[in-house]
Amino acid sequence: MTAIPVAMRPRVSKQMILEVVDVRDLSPKVRSFSFASISGQQLPAFVPGSHIVVELGSKSNSYSLTGSGQYPDAYTISVALAPEGNGGSKAMHQLQVGDSIKVSYPRSAFAPVASARHHLFIAAGIGITPILSHARAAEELGRSSSLMYVFRPTSGVHLQECRSIYGTTLTEYTDRESFNSSLRSALLNQPIGTHLYVCGPAGFMSSVLRLAEEMGWPTERLHSEHFEADVQGPGKNFQVTLAQSGQTITVPGTKSLLEALEGIGISVPNMCRKGVCGECAVPVLKGRVEHRDLYLTDEEKALHETVMCCVSRAQEQELELDL
Ligand code: FES
Repeated sequence: MTAIPVAMRPRVSKQMILEVVDVRDLSPKVRSFSFASISGQQLPAFVPGSHIVVELGSKSNSYSLTGSGQYPDAYTISVALAPEGNGGSKAMHQLQVGDSIKVSYPRSAFAPVASARHHLFIAAGIGITPILSHARAAEELGRSSSLMYVFRPTSGVHLQECRSIYGTTLTEYTDRESFNSSLRSALLNQPIGTHLYVCGPAGFMSSVLRLAEEMGWPTERLHSEHFEADVQGPGKNFQVTLAQSGQTITVPGTKSLLEALEGIGISVPNMCRKGVCGECAVPVLKGRVEHRDLYLTDEEKALHETVMCCVSRAQEQELELDL
């Protein structure tokens, strides 16, 4: 079996230590943070729609960058406080100017298509963050774009920035009904060659994408950004053989493969534990993977040569791993 392609490209283990240089409240629940190089150097540029993985204590989470990506002297993210989350957003909300923080290099699974004739951006709630990055880049590069933004009346974070980019052409919706009633005509009335980019709650994104597909949009022109893999609840038990030691273990349906490996003292590098960062890739020697991650491409998934062990599982009874 050939070497897994994912192992060949940089993963988030490549990190930077940056300094918090700005903290501001965008709404009662959403706070924006900017991180800059401690030595004052410019940061690596990034593709619009990129995210970084922020490591804070034992928590790691990925956050979309809101800048355009061109010549950044700081990386800015917006973090919604999630009281029911894993504690990552609570830890982030404690950060203060002057603190140091470990972040991955930016990576993108939501890049704009340079050949698109027009970019139709659709955002709901905190999903505005990667879309704002796209909108800023489109404005800076003179690319044709438009934005439909759905938000609760009191929580239109980044609304002012969106208004200043789009002026009166920005379409704002403070309820789903008015958005739903104009979505169909928006999807009908785009120039040929338009690409659609959507970000927001999972149900919102799937309803937008489903309608676009029903109306004949080719899937290559539909792009979406998820904040974490849809883990789809517990899975089935399966067996894993570790080729290097010959050991065999059972992964129960209620545990991830990563947790099962940790349970027998095998540590696999990991960060997000949500299937987005790419850090926990493990080479597969035998068996088919039930891919639940958002990191591997469809082509990589079809090879069944890599499993993102924090969320993905075995399709059948068994997997053999190069561990
Ligand atoms: S730890 Fe991030 S994809 Fe598994």
